[in-house]
Amino acid sequence: MDDRRILNLALPKGRLGEDVCAALSDAGYCAAQSDGDGRKLIFDGDGIRYFWVKPSDVPVYVERGAADLGVCGSDILLESEPDVYELADLHRGVCRIAVAAKKGFRDDPGKTLCVATKFKNVARKYFDSAGRQTDIIKLNGSIELAPILGLSDVIVDIVETGATLRDNGLEVIADVVPVSARLIANKSAYKFKTDLIKALQAAIQTVTER
Ligand code: PRP
Repeated sequence: MDDRRILNLALPKGRLGEDVCAALSDAGYCAAQSDGDGRKLIFDGDGIRYFWVKPSDVPVYVERGAADLGVCGSDILLESEPDVYELADLHRGVCRIAVAAKKGFRDDPGKTLCVATKFKNVARKYFDSAGRQTDIIKLNGSIELAPILGLSDVIVDIVETGATLRDNGLEVIADVVPVSARLIANKSAYKFKTDLIKALQAAIQTVTER
């Protein structure tokens, strides 16, 4: 098929990507199959080339035009602020970013608050707007360990069911922002493949807005 008539779609590896594939399949697209151990990274189907990428890399592929479209959480968009179009809220992967601490933690506003997070920019903006002085430590995973081990006073992290916080003796002390999956587009792809992109957007919105 002519490459100008193919849509390149970056999907986030993991449960959100699988959910979006199921939605695409419900929308009548031949969605990317998972090959069990998830080793194959590219699939073709019905005029769409699907790439499985690390969720935080989705906006990088889309902003630079290696993918025309992508699906990722609004948490990642808030953190990296890519220069892309946000086309739709897919109402999947619904969760929130929250501030959490060890049960019983009392903030002392006279002291710099030490914050561990994957979301440095989101955390900085949140505490700056509250006029709170912070020392922000960037971590890449298992954020809940930081207050337990005394690396930080609080964390700013994703909370979905709350089970990870509960199982580690932590609790939410403030909500920062709700999060859900978004469909994003490369700006020039949107201009040159408008009809294809709009058709996919409409189809996926029909099944995700139910
Ligand atoms: C996220 C987040 C929490 C957990 C919250 O981690 O960082 O650890 O999910 O979910 P819950 O409220 O349902 O327990 P993820 O599984 O994405 O792994 P990560 O630590 O590698 O980011």
